[in-house]
Amino acid sequence: MTAVRTEGELGRHFAGLAFGPAARVYEALTGSPAWLRSSLRLAELVPGPLVLDLGVGPGAVSLEVARAHPGRVAVGLDRSATMLRRAARLADLQGCPLPFLRADAQVLPIRAGALDGVTGHSLLYLLADPAAALAEVARAVRPGGRVGFLEPASGSPSLLEAVIGGPRLAASLVLWRAMSGLHRRFSAEELGGLLTGAGFRDVKVETTLAGCGLLAAASR
Ligand SMILES: C[S@@+](CC[C@H](N)C(=O)[O-])C[C@H]1O[C@@H](n2cnc3c(N)ncnc32)[C@H](O)[C@@H]1O
Repeated sequence: MTAVRTEGELGRHFAGLAFGPAARVYEALTGSPAWLRSSLRLAELVPGPLVLDLGVGPGAVSLEVARAHPGRVAVGLDRSATMLRRAARLADLQGCPLPFLRADAQVLPIRAGALDGVTGHSLLYLLADPAAALAEVARAVRPGGRVGFLEPASGSPSLLEAVIGGPRLAASLVLWRAMSGLHRRFSAEELGGLLTGAGFRDVKVETTLAGCGLLAAASR
């Protein structure tokens, strides 16, 4: 008998694959210059110095940010042991040891107000309850601290811009669209509303990554 999967089950299945056994493929696709640039833009909006990066993944982004902002202590958090192993290996190879933490982004092992900032690139859309996760982020960030999230957008992407970005970017955006189609995408109003609802202020949202993404930043 063939097992019938719901969209939610399929999403969890593919996420388990992409961020577990196929982490190497994910790493190859999202290490493109355009993906890394989007992460640097995200990091600029959250100066730190002590910043927790939720869903750090294979680490290429953290290393790029660490090189661009030497004064920052960026701790990479992920719940996937495979991703964290890849991140630690890459950090070693590049001679840039970084602190990593294995935990669930929805239950942060961090005392209240301990962080200057939190970032997340492609993380909220995977969570069962992004509003609850943002409430947890609001607890962990000190008043005046900054947060930034880059998440898949529900609007129409610019195919031309995606193609001009090169085959690696185009492939990563196709993967991102497929994965977010199985989880969720946000409108600017929804993402901004989630941040406001969690108690953040000065919320700003802009489109990025050929219209496939939304970059949101706010203050605690
Ligand atoms: C789409 S990847 C993004 C990786 C990286 N931020 C990037 O931009 O390339 C999402 C990451 O979030 C992690 N993740 C998913 N759900 C999580 C959760 N509840 N807590 C912590 N990490 C989670 C996955 O293991 C994966 O490494």
